[in-house]
Amino acid sequence: MSETLQEMIKLAAAARVNAYAPYSGFHVGACIRTTSGNFYAGCNIENAAYPESQCAEATAIGMMIADGDGQIAEIVVTGDGEHLCTPCGGCRQRLSEFASPETPVHICGPDGLRKTISMGELLPHAFKTDNLED
Ligand code: THU
Repeated sequence: MSETLQEMIKLAAAARVNAYAPYSGFHVGACIRTTSGNFYAGCNIENAAYPESQCAEATAIGMMIADGDGQIAEIVVTGDGEHLCTPCGGCRQRLSEFASPETPVHICGPDGLRKTISMGELLPHAFKTDNLED
């Protein structure tokens, strides 16, 4: 495993510790590496008004955009439990706005890396800005 990926897994795990998930009890951390070499981590943030909750990936994207960055090169998502914590449908769309179909998404658990999937596999027919140019 590359040192970069190891670092991303550490950053996602550190963010996951700070997850605010009192309702689901499910803690998620995410880390984005951009093509400019920056790292942005985030965790899920739930809310007593459940639909106002925010996924870890959305938090990491917010950090990236607020910093003036925006081209995703690699993604790590770390969740609880024994199942693969793949990005939810909404986050696949959110991530695909700033990633390409080839962008690797590394799915981790508390035990480390479990599977690597590409954005294109997760969301084969993404709605992109190209659609708006027709
Ligand atoms: N969650 C994420 O943060 N990212 C994912 O990829 C899947 C789900 C969060 C949302 C909610 O706070 C909790 O996990 C349970 O769904």
